[in-house]
Amino acid sequence: MNGLVEISKHIRLVRTMFNPEKRKRIPLSEPLLYGNEKEWVLRCLESNWVSSSGPFVEQFEDEIAQSVNAPHKKSVVTASGTAALHLALLTAGVKPGELVLVPTLTFIATVNAINYVGAEPLFFGSDSRLCMDLNSLEEFLQNECRKEGAHFVHKSSSRRISAVMPVHVLGFTVDVFRLRSLFTDSSVAILEDAAESMGSLVKSPITNDWVTSGTIGDLGCYSFNGNKIITSGGGGSIVGNNQEWLKRCKYLANQAKDDALFFEHHSVGYNYRMTSLEAALGIAQLKNLSTSIERRTRIHLQYRNHLKNADNVEVIEGLSTEQPNYWLTAVRIKNWNLDQLRSGIFKLQELGIEARPVWTLNHTQAPYRKCATFKPQSSEADYPKILCIPSSSNLTEEEVGFVADNVVRIAAH
Ligand SMILES: Cc1ncc(COP(=O)(O)O)c(C=O)c1O
Repeated sequence: MNGLVEISKHIRLVRTMFNPEKRKRIPLSEPLLYGNEKEWVLRCLESNWVSSSGPFVEQFEDEIAQSVNAPHKKSVVTASGTAALHLALLTAGVKPGELVLVPTLTFIATVNAINYVGAEPLFFGSDSRLCMDLNSLEEFLQNECRKEGAHFVHKSSSRRISAVMPVHVLGFTVDVFRLRSLFTDSSVAILEDAAESMGSLVKSPITNDWVTSGTIGDLGCYSFNGNKIITSGGGGSIVGNNQEWLKRCKYLANQAKDDALFFEHHSVGYNYRMTSLEAALGIAQLKNLSTSIERRTRIHLQYRNHLKNADNVEVIEGLSTEQPNYWLTAVRIKNWNLDQLRSGIFKLQELGIEARPVWTLNHTQAPYRKCATFKPQSSEADYPKILCIPSSSNLTEEEVGFVADNVVRIAAH
């Protein structure tokens, strides 16, 4: 029986490889438009509220807050996830020369936002789900820092640590409850980069309730970039427990306008507003957030099933204390190095399969090479083995099977 399954898999693979008709491109993560988007964007056009003011922006903010059960029932939408992170750091009062603790394994946007405020990243390694390693963070705080009143100071550089930015990589969740306990009674701001994890849930160890990622720290930022679980074309949003900071985010995103009539400004502001057209698209997409999560979870489980007997390939899974949104499924190919990763990606590309590594580690990127690190080796060891595979919400089981079969075949060489 197993032999028959293997033969039919092989025939399917060979047929697809030699039949260009069938070799449709399988993108990594493309937007899925459910059909209601047209109506919402048209409504926006017909209302003439196409720019950054008006009811669509407010409605999107209210519906995001409702959807993630945001503290204070509040969210602030922005022009991008990167703008949201920048605003979060500004409002948390992160100053030039201070340190911000961040994983090295993240999209560079997280780190660039630290640079925008003149602060310096200090990089950490990652755990089995590619998220910031909290064990080494705890060790760092105990051995490498001293407490001066409410402040943590890095002993060797004498710099103050002003924020920590846990990144919920690929939709997995950093245990922000544990993180909060490491920083109790301190001045360190907890700013969640939840760009990839909208709708992911974490179990609260205090109440046992499921809580949405992004809503546990002082502020949390989502991205609605085109490749994310839902999109507004481009955009981001901020939620969080610190209501004053949320208000200030809104103010700074709108050029810090104190008097709308006379255009008086008491601070340096930014034009980081989302447009109504984007908000209208976002409203339509948000209505299908839970469907997108269900679909991506199903795709993830299908990959797990297809790959369960592959010796060399391990699907990266969540913990029992989380319900990831499974935005992107990734596999760990145990014996791979960087050259094998690169050539594996090219081979998949030839078959129309878009796969990619995670990100070049930020402590090795040109602008950040001189920044401090603490135990980045876990990420260094893992990075060449990680392959992100197609996970779009509209992927069919046949496509999942095709990708999985080819990953196994390529990983064996
Ligand atoms: C982890 C992470 N942080 C930040 C961002 C930045 O978001 P945006 O592209 O909306 O600026 C992204 C996505 O693009 C991301 O994946």
